[in-house]
Amino acid sequence: MKLLEQRIQSDAVVLDGDILKVDMFLNHQIDVTLIKELGKELYTSFSAYPITKILTVESSGIPIACAAAELFNVPVVFAKKGQHSNIGSNVFSTQVFSFTKGKSYQINISKDYLLSSDNILIIDDFLANGEAVLGLKRIIDEARANLLGVGIAIEKGFQGGGEKIRKLGVPLLSLAVIESMSDGNIVFRLNNCKE
Ligand code: G4P
Repeated sequence: MKLLEQRIQSDAVVLDGDILKVDMFLNHQIDVTLIKELGKELYTSFSAYPITKILTVESSGIPIACAAAELFNVPVVFAKKGQHSNIGSNVFSTQVFSFTKGKSYQINISKDYLLSSDNILIIDDFLANGEAVLGLKRIIDEARANLLGVGIAIEKGFQGGGEKIRKLGVPLLSLAVIESMSDGNIVFRLNNCKE
C-alpha cells in the first residue's frame, strides 16, 4: 500500500536490532486518518469473506482492527496480555514468545467472545516472527472457530513470520512488507498479494 510505504519512508526510524520505530503514527501517537485508510484497505481485500469477528492482541493492533471492523460491521475482540488480566477464569489462554522482548507472555480471550460459529480475521500492526498470530491461531483452533485470514499493517519479511503463516495456507495480506532495512535503508517487497 503506497500510502503506508510512503509514510514509513518519510517518518519511521530504523533502530539497532531490526526494530522499526513508528511511534509517530502507529505505536504511540496515532494518525487516525492513516489508520482509517489501513482499515479500508484490509476491508476491501477481505470483503468477500464472511467475517463475523476481528481478533487482535492489545495494544497497537486495536486501532487498525477497529477501523476495519466498522466497515465489516463486526465486533473486535482483543486478546489481553498477562496472567492477571481481569477477565475471569472462563478463558482461552496460550503462551506467546516475543523475540523482540526475549520473553514469553500469556494471552487470554474470554470464552464468551469467541464461539465455534465465528469466522475470524486476525489484524495486527506488526508481523515479525509470527508468534502473536500463531498464538491467536492456537486459541481459535481450541475454540473450534474458523480462521479465514490475517491482515497486517507492517510485515518484516526478513523475520519469517509471513512465511510460517503462508505455509499454513491462511490468506495473509500485509499492507507493507519490508524486505530489508540494513543501514537504515528501507526496501519494500514489490509483489505483495494475499494468497
Ligand atoms: P511476532 O509476534 O511477530 O513474533 O513478533 P514479536 O513477538 O517479536 O513482537 C513483539 C512485539 O513487538 C509486538 O508488539 C510487535 O508488534 C512488536 N514489534 C515487532 N517488531 C517490531 C518493529 O520492528 N517495530 C515495532 N514498532 N514493533 C515491533 P507488542 O509487544 O505486543 O506491543 P504493542 O502491540 O502493545 O505495541
